[in-house]
Amino acid sequence: METVKTISELRAARLILPQPVGLVPTMGYLHEGHLSLVRAARSECASVVVSIFVNPTQFGPTEDLASYPRDLLRDLQLLEKEGVNLVWSPDVEDMYPPGFQTWVTVEGVARPLEGSMRPGHFRGVATVVAKLFNAVQPQRAYFGQKDAQQAVVIRQMVRDLNFNLDVVVCPIVREPDGLAMSSRNTYLNPEERRAATVLYRSLSAARQAYQAGERDADRLRQIMAETIQSEPLARLQYVSCADADTLQEITGIVSGRALLSMAVFVGKTRLIDNFVIGEENHAPGN
Ligand code: PAJ
Repeated sequence: METVKTISELRAARLILPQPVGLVPTMGYLHEGHLSLVRAARSECASVVVSIFVNPTQFGPTEDLASYPRDLLRDLQLLEKEGVNLVWSPDVEDMYPPGFQTWVTVEGVARPLEGSMRPGHFRGVATVVAKLFNAVQPQRAYFGQKDAQQAVVIRQMVRDLNFNLDVVVCPIVREPDGLAMSSRNTYLNPEERRAATVLYRSLSAARQAYQAGERDADRLRQIMAETIQSEPLARLQYVSCADADTLQEITGIVSGRALLSMAVFVGKTRLIDNFVIGEENHAPGN
């Protein structure tokens, strides 16, 4: 496994990789969710590139950029075991040199949900992912359904800007008690960690109601909100029942694929999770 830092080193190493190349973009502090993307890439591509970069431009001014967990040595050990060919961990100065002034702004699908709660977030994500795509030039790029809107935003950007690659979205990997794996779970103290299962319980309750015939979007949102509110350590930011493709909030009756999603503070930690309903099996992501 080769590891590189600068863009010119990355370009040189990329030139000799067998094709097709699969890219897994990450912010590091890797867990089984990230590794599931690496394994999917490994099984479908001749070589796998993983990027590790805590992208400052996708964090809001009051968010956790400074405290975001990092452990590059541990990440490299995990990736070595997975048979990754190339790891790219650029420095901030290399990605955003002085004078940087070009941004990728996705409109419609980036506006609701996370986009409305985290202004500028998807501009940072789309810009950095476009830069990663341009530098690595992968044939496939792997993302997790954990960040459902991010995957939709990236697909839209790839379509609109004619990136010549396939976006692959992989199911959510969960802890045994249902909590979606996340680098941010490390912020939770033991009490909060127990409370954090409320997201999964809330989504499960809404899905159960849907499976029992409930089709009223308001009612599904209400079931999710009430479950979250029953947990004293949890504070609901939003719940949503939206069209899975357009991400527009559903008013009235749910027909077709719907994305149930939410953001919840447990203590000071902001957690997100989602289920897709209205498809035969519950993949991806449930
Ligand atoms: P990060 O949060 O490190 O996540 C990297 C990738 O792993 C994302 O595609 C995310 O959806 C996926 N992932 C995280 N937890 C997962 C889980 N429990 N199951 C399945 N997949 C999971 O997302 C980002 O970084 C950044 O926004 C990035 C795309 C790298 C741009 O900076």
